[in-house]
Amino acid sequence: MRRIRIERPGGYDRLTMETVADPEPGPGEVLIRVAAVGVNFADCIARMGLYKSAREFEGWPLTPGFEVAGEVMAVGEGVSTVKVGERVMALSLFNAYADRVCVPEHQLRSIPEHWSLAEAAAFPTVFLTAWYALHALGDIQPGHRVLIHSAAGGVGQALVQLARRAAAHVVGVVGRSHKVDSLKAHGIDVIDKSRQALWSEAGRLAPDGFDLIADANGYPTLKQSYRHLAPGGRLLVYGFHGMFHPDRRGRGRVNWPAMIASWFRTPRFSPLAMTSENRAVMGFNLSFMGHRPDVLRTGFDQLLQWAAEGDIHPLPVTTYAFDDVASAHRDLESGQTTGKLVLLT
Ligand SMILES: NC(=O)c1ccc[n+]([C@@H]2O[C@H](COP(=O)([O-])OP(=O)(O)OC[C@H]3O[C@@H](n4cnc5c(N)ncnc54)[C@H](OP(=O)(O)O)[C@@H]3O)[C@@H](O)[C@H]2O)c1
Repeated sequence: MRRIRIERPGGYDRLTMETVADPEPGPGEVLIRVAAVGVNFADCIARMGLYKSAREFEGWPLTPGFEVAGEVMAVGEGVSTVKVGERVMALSLFNAYADRVCVPEHQLRSIPEHWSLAEAAAFPTVFLTAWYALHALGDIQPGHRVLIHSAAGGVGQALVQLARRAAAHVVGVVGRSHKVDSLKAHGIDVIDKSRQALWSEAGRLAPDGFDLIADANGYPTLKQSYRHLAPGGRLLVYGFHGMFHPDRRGRGRVNWPAMIASWFRTPRFSPLAMTSENRAVMGFNLSFMGHRPDVLRTGFDQLLQWAAEGDIHPLPVTTYAFDDVASAHRDLESGQTTGKLVLLT
């Protein structure tokens, strides 16, 4: 099999291809012949050596990647839900940048008939993240006012779809004007913060504040996101991409001075203030949820039921050749992309 390996943390030049023996599925595992791999911003952070769960669970060298789609090649003892040859998508929790991957049975599902393999590879991570944020933590209800930062991105568009499905009033925020169109089809209010004053516009659209705000920017918006919660509101924190400032030479390495400054500028929330203001701050990271198969199972099943009912749809994808993974990382880190990026093996 071919896989992408990172020997040591660093820039795009650390992403190298290697050929090794195929893995064999152990009991309860499924071996997938991978056709498409979803790319996530977390993979870029892992490449830089700053992703905590990658350091804790994998170490170096590292094969990043959380999700794949392809065909079942072989099944281990006790596997009963899929057969050899079936089209499946899976959450792998690392090691997905490869053309063969073994995953535990509960982390994969059959692909809905009309979805392409690229669309399927782009589904598990962002939709499970959005589901966990809005349903497991946010308890989203019809009529809720929901603000979604980075709404045109991978997780962002999944959040928009799930919030619309839940009959919430959605405001999406984007950082570049060319992204506005990708959200129009969802019938939501959009704030283009490159042209509009984000917080006065948010205040105009929700004068009493928001019931839910999904924020993965980190220090640039967290404090104001908290201030714009309605009483009883919840701030859902699931990432910190605003901390990643490009290095000056565009090599994809960590810009340490800017990173350290961002760390100091990240707000610390006070439980005393949260209690008297009736505002909650909730954080999570799915890559630390591998020990909770019940959560992944519930989320996956719920999402695929909604997909079957036509309430949610695969995200728009931009594809890259497997060996052009560096371009996919560079583009994702540029902050210009919309929807999902997918590698085709
Ligand atoms: N906690 C979890 O379990 C979990 C799971 C999956 C993803 N995540 C997090 O969710 C976020 C979105 O991930 P994604 O893969 O779907 O990426 P994405 O949203 O498709 O792309 C990142 C977007 O972030 C915004 N951004 C702001 N500052 C940025 C910077 N300095 N560098 C690059 N982008 C910047 C840009 O949009 P705008 O300029 O339009 O805002 C950019 O398009 C990431 O922070 C990721 O780590 C968390």
